[in-house]
Amino acid sequence: MNVKFSSQDALFFVEKLITDPRKADAEAALQTALNRTGRGNDFLGWITLPNDVTEADITRIEECAARMAAKSQVVVVVGIGGSYLGARAVIEALQHSFAPYVDGKFPHILYAGNNINEDYLHDLLDVLDTRDYSVVVISKSGTTTEPALAFRILKQHCEKKYGVEAAKERIVAITDKARGALKTLADKEGYPTFVIPDDVGGRYSVLTPVGLLPIAMAGFNIRQLLQGAKDMQKFVAENPKYEQNPILQYALIRNLLYESGLKVELLASFEPQLFYFIEWFKQLFGESEGKEHKGIFPAGAIFSTDLHSLGQYIQEGTRQMFETVLAIDAVHHRVNIPEDAENLDNLNYLQHRTIHEINQIARKGTCLAHVDGQVPNLCITVPEINEYHLGELIYFFEMSCAVSGYMLGVNPFDQPGVEAYKKNMFRLLGKPGVKYFLFQ
Ligand code: PA5
Repeated sequence: MNVKFSSQDALFFVEKLITDPRKADAEAALQTALNRTGRGNDFLGWITLPNDVTEADITRIEECAARMAAKSQVVVVVGIGGSYLGARAVIEALQHSFAPYVDGKFPHILYAGNNINEDYLHDLLDVLDTRDYSVVVISKSGTTTEPALAFRILKQHCEKKYGVEAAKERIVAITDKARGALKTLADKEGYPTFVIPDDVGGRYSVLTPVGLLPIAMAGFNIRQLLQGAKDMQKFVAENPKYEQNPILQYALIRNLLYESGLKVELLASFEPQLFYFIEWFKQLFGESEGKEHKGIFPAGAIFSTDLHSLGQYIQEGTRQMFETVLAIDAVHHRVNIPEDAENLDNLNYLQHRTIHEINQIARKGTCLAHVDGQVPNLCITVPEINEYHLGELIYFFEMSCAVSGYMLGVNPFDQPGVEAYKKNMFRLLGKPGVKYFLFQ
């Protein structure tokens, strides 16, 4: 277990509230999830997913990824929400920071179907006009408007560019095993398909083909990713007690901070490659806990970038927030700070430091300042960013979210509120058969 959790900079706010009965609540919430006795228990397939993925599943994903990658400079991943963010979180954490400018042996991954912006689609087609590409279309329901619309356009583009039959070799669908328009379409066209298990909801699906196939296409090691999650699953099973289990500590303390009036959790990292991991976290917690007029609002920031924008608010704005820092011990590369005899920029005092050390010190300084400003600070640290530790983190946050949601008293596995905008949009668009207008 390589994920370290520290709450020492939040204790000034909640220490007295961390009582034995509340610790027992956290332990009970974990058992509710593990024993599948709570609300939403038909969506708990993710709990054993890391171990349930078979060697045959992995091999099929790797083979498909290699086949598509071999003929593609670009792979377009079409999906939204849980059918998109997990893959992007892992790929962007692992890939070169300037991936589109670096030619390697794996295709660049681009994304579509996560917005309805016409210029975005136009520009994407511009890029695809001059590059060889494949498409992975992902939708559990198979009916979500954004990816369906993008896929219709991409399918036609691909068929025009390569011919109808050859296009079929460049399209893969990931969807329900039997239901939905995408499944019908994929069967009719004869696309290879991968199945999203019935008992795994979108935001918990990164370790299914939804995440694994795009991650493998980008050239990353899905076995290591799964191994990290598997080891975390084992750790959870073997450590059901609060004192030994940082997942329970994180889940309880964030609930206590919420009960004390702090309604916003800012997940911040000093590592820009974790931007989409934070986006994934926002969906996981926001969609799981934000219901019944309850729940922490999950926000995100990349520091030190956002210290020069949001920093002022965090330090001195409305006191409604706690901060969780997602930190790493080590980076992979070294960039030397050059000597400069003239020292006109006054930076010679940093010359004996590494850039990473300076970043770590910025993190410590930020934490001290924010705690001074009455913003409790939690910290989650992994040794470095790689597939294995990302796998650990994914399972860490998924289980924290389940425990935290049960402690809050909601069903962490449904998302009834997501339908509201869709109903209005369909009514306004005149979708056949849609009669409702207001959120019911
Ligand atoms: O977590 C969820 O359930 C949602 O974010 C869905 O993943 C998202 O709405 C996309 O749905 P679908 O995969 O059915 O297209």
